[in-house]
Amino acid sequence: MITTYKARQFNLSNLKGISDETLEMHFKLYEGYVKETNKLNEKIADFIKDGKVDQEEFAEYSELNRRLGFEYNGMVLHEYYFDNLKSGGGTGDPTGRAGFRQAVEESFGSYDIWKADFVGIGKMRGVGWAICYEDPSKGKLSNHWITLHETGNVAGYEPILVMDVWEHAFILDYKPADRPKYIEAFFSNIDWSAVERRLHRGTAQSIAA
Ligand SMILES: [Fe+2]
Repeated sequence: MITTYKARQFNLSNLKGISDETLEMHFKLYEGYVKETNKLNEKIADFIKDGKVDQEEFAEYSELNRRLGFEYNGMVLHEYYFDNLKSGGGTGDPTGRAGFRQAVEESFGSYDIWKADFVGIGKMRGVGWAICYEDPSKGKLSNHWITLHETGNVAGYEPILVMDVWEHAFILDYKPADRPKYIEAFFSNIDWSAVERRLHRGTAQSIAA
């Protein structure tokens, strides 16, 4: 039985500093990842339907499986990214009582230190993502650079805040060298309530030593 994924619809008009044209283009790219994920799953299912992978099929079968991580993460990370943006723009940095703010204070010492790290990762040279993850077993947050879509994700960790820094995320609005301006725009559009809902930890729970 093959799982077929359906591209989700997102209503993200009127963001601050990220144009509707950028989003339209970005949604199309996302739909491409959903399509490719489905296609790969179908092709792989076809290879294995007789219960074995023949030696002469092995090179093609291997290549399809190597591409799975790229397409799956391309699909899923875009969903996290669009879900943590707020139509019409966000409200800026989260308040002192917010669970996310408490979580970063416990993990990084302060919100500003966490933000400096997350933004710094977002400015790294290369093609990829900046992601703040939660270790669900400890409630600890950490920021990670993901190359392309699949290299650097930490097994078992949950994405809490996901920022696409591929050039396609901002090239219609900013020059490649102006990625920092896009990152600023991203921060002004974060849906912190969506971020909060991803946290596993209770807000009062302390990080286990
Ligand atoms: Fe993207």
